[in-house]
Amino acid sequence: MKLYEIIIDAKASDFLNQTVKEGVLIDDANKVIANKCGIQNFFTSDAEFIELKDSLNGHGLASNRNHTEYGDYQTNRLLTDKIVEKLVKEGINPEVMLEPTFGEGNFIIAAIKAFTNLDVIYGVEIYKSYVWQAKFSILSLFIEEPELNKPKIYLHHENVFDFNFRLIAEGIKSDKFLILGNPPWVTSSQLGALDSVNLPAKSNFKNHKGLDAITGKGNFDIAEYITLMMMDNFKSQNGNLVFLIKNSVVKNIIQDQKDRVYPISSIRTYSIDTKKEFNASVESCVFFCELNRPADFTCSEYNFYTDESPKNEFGWYKNKFVANISKYAETEDFDGNSSIVWRQGLKHDCSSVMEINCLEGSLINGNSDILDVENDLVFGLLKSSDLKNNIVSKSRKFTIVTQTKVGEKTSYIEEKYPKTFAYLSKNKSFFDKRKSSIYIGKPDYSIFGIGDYSFKPYKVAISGLYKKSDFTLVLPQNEKPLMLDDTCYFLGFDKLEHAVYTYILLNHRKTQAFLNSITFLDAKRAFTKNNLMRLDLCKIAKNIPFQDIEKEVESISKKHSIQATTDTWYDFQYSLQESPLFAFV
Ligand SMILES: C[S@@+](CC[C@H](N)C(=O)[O-])C[C@H]1O[C@@H](n2cnc3c(N)ncnc32)[C@H](O)[C@@H]1O
Repeated sequence: MKLYEIIIDAKASDFLNQTVKEGVLIDDANKVIANKCGIQNFFTSDAEFIELKDSLNGHGLASNRNHTEYGDYQTNRLLTDKIVEKLVKEGINPEVMLEPTFGEGNFIIAAIKAFTNLDVIYGVEIYKSYVWQAKFSILSLFIEEPELNKPKIYLHHENVFDFNFRLIAEGIKSDKFLILGNPPWVTSSQLGALDSVNLPAKSNFKNHKGLDAITGKGNFDIAEYITLMMMDNFKSQNGNLVFLIKNSVVKNIIQDQKDRVYPISSIRTYSIDTKKEFNASVESCVFFCELNRPADFTCSEYNFYTDESPKNEFGWYKNKFVANISKYAETEDFDGNSSIVWRQGLKHDCSSVMEINCLEGSLINGNSDILDVENDLVFGLLKSSDLKNNIVSKSRKFTIVTQTKVGEKTSYIEEKYPKTFAYLSKNKSFFDKRKSSIYIGKPDYSIFGIGDYSFKPYKVAISGLYKKSDFTLVLPQNEKPLMLDDTCYFLGFDKLEHAVYTYILLNHRKTQAFLNSITFLDAKRAFTKNNLMRLDLCKIAKNIPFQDIEKEVESISKKHSIQATTDTWYDFQYSLQESPLFAFV
């Protein structure tokens, strides 16, 4: 039978029909139901009582809602059962449990089935249909298996952000407490785009506490907020917190733990196959921690489906936040400040006009227009996908480089390059439509990520988007420097040999181990300027045996017909120390 978009099985429906039959009062019905399945105040009001009676008579109500807004990814029964089974194996057998956003109630059902000592279950959920669904499913469970341990179950139809969890915390007398669930998978910026109000009042909570805003834009995950809310409200409560959350949320929690110092320990995650379990393309895990313990600052990562020892440990190590503590401990000598500044490639936000292909000698833009422009401002352009090879000297795409530095006037183009100017002005509307505020008040056809460094003939580059940590040596194309787009980061050089040495140093197994030890591959942009700036080229050059450099220079020269020797190796090392940034190292 379908009721409020939800399914109620025949036995539960018959039981309810009997219980709410004509003449029965709400309090009596609630008592009967509580006796049967433990749910307290099944009907919270007369209106609900009448509503259900009507619905059982075939007048089911359906409501519409935006599942994105509520970060709605219900956990399947098989998975909730397996998670709870794992908890039992680890000796967790709570007396009091809380599911702060219980949805259809699958965690609650799994808990009732597996935890034999449960006295009380608390749950909160904003979506009325799910509250009914959870109630009906729990009722069905106890009709099927009446011998199960029957805790008192309080299911609240409320907003988690308004709910007074302190009241629950103050009432808990047991030392065996468990917070279990899967909070909403949605970020504040996604909610902003939907004009949603499903946000806590303190939306800028990270800034309020003066912590580093991890995204830099005040964006945060609702699940992160709810996890911290739980840690805050139940910090004096002995027990465990077990949440299914995105890996990025766990990373943020551990990163902020240095400032927040929540009394949580034995922090660990069990990675799950999110595609299989939720049909979602994001890395997620089951996050475990013990509450009311001396604070820990690291997290061990396991696989949920196997019983293997931890595959990794990340977190704070000697005052540094790192992705792989053991790898980092072996290579920490490389951690410092790069003496050369890593740059992001150029940004134009106008691909239909500025991303140009070359077909049979003709330049063609994204609108299929053939370009008739002077050659001077046309440069080869590499995107992340072009950095697959070790050495690149040819581009698939081209772009028009309208400025030599950010904010430079572009009026010179009209006089010096009339054909290029005609092309740009014909397509001016595409530039004017660019949404980003960085273009406001800037000269027409402005670009970003441009400076002296863009015109360096030799570059060593990496894609920020791909999970591949090796670096590409970028050489000029027809004696013109190749440009990189803003998904890439690079160092620029005037001398080929200096670029070759850097390429060898950065791809050396030890440097790669160091870079991987500080890189969170789950992040949208795995390699960031911050991480790359930690590669201390001076220290790396001193640490890597000269023979390794010699061997590689020889091999590259032979394989790629590059005229490079080690003659300028010491000159290169000296230049690193002379570099203006070295003074701050
Ligand atoms: C990822 S789903 C998980 C549901 C359930 N915990 C499970 O594991 O199947 C998140 C749940 O949070 C609920 N939710 C979203 N925003 C909420 C809010 N402000 N207050 C309470 N519940 C909320 C959604 O309706 C949804 O049921």
